[in-house]
Amino acid sequence: MASIEMKDIVKQYGDGFPAVNGVSLDIADGEFMILVGPSGCGKSTLLRMIVGLEDITSGDMVIGGTRVNDKAPRDRNLSMVFQNYALYPHMSVYENIAFPLRLAKTPDDQVDRLVKEAADVLELHEHLERKPANLSGGQRQRVAMGRAIVRQAEAFLFDEPLSNLDAKLRGQMRTEIARLQRRLGITTVYVTHDQTEAMTLGDRVCVLRKGSIQQVASPRELYEQPVNLFVAGFIGSPPMNFLPATVQGSTLQTPFGPVELDERRAAAVAGRDLLLVGIRPEYFEDASLVDEAKKHVGTTFTAKVDVTEWLGDQQYAYIPYEAPDQIRTRLRDLSKELDSEELRTQAIVSIDSTSRIREGREAEFWLDTRKVHVFDPETGENLTRDAEAGAELTRMAVEDREEQVAEASGGLTGDRSSGAA
Ligand SMILES: Nc1ncnc2c1ncn2[C@@H]1O[C@H](COP(=O)(O)OP(=O)(O)OP(=O)(O)O)[C@@H](O)[C@H]1O
Ligand SMILES: [Mg+2]
Repeated sequence: MASIEMKDIVKQYGDGFPAVNGVSLDIADGEFMILVGPSGCGKSTLLRMIVGLEDITSGDMVIGGTRVNDKAPRDRNLSMVFQNYALYPHMSVYENIAFPLRLAKTPDDQVDRLVKEAADVLELHEHLERKPANLSGGQRQRVAMGRAIVRQAEAFLFDEPLSNLDAKLRGQMRTEIARLQRRLGITTVYVTHDQTEAMTLGDRVCVLRKGSIQQVASPRELYEQPVNLFVAGFIGSPPMNFLPATVQGSTLQTPFGPVELDERRAAAVAGRDLLLVGIRPEYFEDASLVDEAKKHVGTTFTAKVDVTEWLGDQQYAYIPYEAPDQIRTRLRDLSKELDSEELRTQAIVSIDSTSRIREGREAEFWLDTRKVHVFDPETGENLTRDAEAGAELTRMAVEDREEQVAEASGGLTGDRSSGAA
């Protein structure tokens, strides 16, 4: 296992277009790092440069302390798990896993020991004599990972491994990969543009936009303390609402009435002109369902509900609002950049499923104003980000994972020795 350090990595393809534009990223030994971003942002290119399938235009790629820019893929000892798993159909599971060892002319008894150890970890021991065609998608993926394990690869690299699967299988495989990675404690870089995968799998998530890093942080930090409109809009589903606002003293004037800011946030936006206030759907509630005691930490407003969507465990309401042209244009550009559905000038609010709010009627809503963020519409910068609180969230996530890996690998050593005895 190894750390992966990237220093100012640039990739220019033939036409001079920088697909990756100065990426510096340190991935710790044993860490699960997600690369996420809209189509064309450079995720696959970056991954292929780590493995050695793509030349690096400039910068340093350091794996396990050694600069590998000029090393061939086979000398980097990384394992790329492809989407189609690249298994040999005519070979048994056993031989598929043993394949890299056969290539390396490993003695038979050692092959046997390593394959059986890997099969134990992967719970494939019952299927060793089968052919890949007779396995489920999840089992096939495990065989591919088994191959990486017997090679004692320094890291696993995945490029959207689940994108072709149906939703149910995708969910199962996601859990499987998470469990195995934790158990093996192997450094992992995983490319996806799936929200859920990004939020649930990674210790940290690296958000890319047009070949540049926007933010590298734990899922919680990205969600709670995004650096800019791009990250705020990309992470979260349904997405954060962005409403126009102006500021007077410590009060934001929004289409849903005044929002009182605390001292820190008020100071951060003082003297600004037109702003965008970012409010996640769950900061809203049907006002009639909020205790009096809680009401004072937020603001209450009346608005006409356009559409409601009842989903059993929760309910969404769509509330249109007015916005100046400048803001409408900005939101349209942002949705294009995010490769998402058009951000319309209507807020999506998440309310309790017991709410009796009705379509086409006025209703009273409550808004928890404590977590709203304020963005500069021009630069996209989050003016009210609390960097310290954010860093704390990521630090906690990294510590939790280190503990889990220590516990899991302790368990694994135990399994192995008992298996050998
Ligand atoms: N061989 C190539 N020659 C020229 N340009 C390329 C080449 N491969 C990729 N690109 C360009 O580099 C940019 C990044 O591509 P990349 O495949 O890394 O994106 P991605 O983030 O993986 O996207 P997706 O989510 O669609 O897989 C894109 O604009 C793409 O068109
Ligand atoms: Mg790609």
